[in-house]
Amino acid sequence: MQSLDRQLYWENVYRTKGEREWSWFQQSPQPSLGLIEKVTVGPSQPSIVDIGGGASSLVDELLCARMGFRAITVLDLSEAALDVSKARLGPAAVDVNWIVADVTTWQPPQAFDIWHDRAAFHFLVDEDDRKAYIERLAQGVTAGGHAIIATFAPDGPEKCSSLPVQRYDAVTLSRAAGSAFELVDQQTHRHVTPWDSVQSFQFSVLRRR
Ligand SMILES: C[S@@+](CC[C@H](N)C(=O)[O-])C[C@H]1O[C@@H](n2cnc3c(N)ncnc32)[C@H](O)[C@@H]1O
Repeated sequence: MQSLDRQLYWENVYRTKGEREWSWFQQSPQPSLGLIEKVTVGPSQPSIVDIGGGASSLVDELLCARMGFRAITVLDLSEAALDVSKARLGPAAVDVNWIVADVTTWQPPQAFDIWHDRAAFHFLVDEDDRKAYIERLAQGVTAGGHAIIATFAPDGPEKCSSLPVQRYDAVTLSRAAGSAFELVDQQTHRHVTPWDSVQSFQFSVLRRR
């Protein structure tokens, strides 16, 4: 799928459907938050970017968490998705750096201590798109920093929001990320959609060498 088509697709999803119609909706952003807490050490005031953050409430948790983030960035193709989060946060939204962009063409302005992605990378079924993402991942994470990437697991659905996805286990995700990263943690997760179907996710935690 071309970048513009992708953007129109997701903009339409967020403009026409409510959160209870999004299969990926979660009331509480776990296990993401737990994994972020695990890689956040001491009073280092880390920076974090949520890639394809959509309208997730992860940003709400990061703002009030005691992890002391220096900077919180949320990037998504869809402006409508980010608007949902901004409206929910109200005045606190000014403390977040919001970016409307396609991650495959975005130039990270800096390297982040933590790169989080729940269910964006798995939409990249085209080899060139995956390569572009991985290049940005390598640029976008500090040495010793972490990437937490959640995708559908091998026994998960073949599609997400009607689009085909690439499914991964921890080993294949780590292989896709390349030699600049080492796998340091992983867990599977059974996500329950708003209509009570279960989706198998793989959460992989990679450390930038
Ligand atoms: C399944 S939703 C997950 C949203 C959010 N991460 C969550 O957990 O609630 C996928 C999100 O990725 C975004 N997305 C898809 N492809 C993208 C791309 N190439 N660049 C940036 N965002 C993308 C979509 O707009 C959508 O918000």
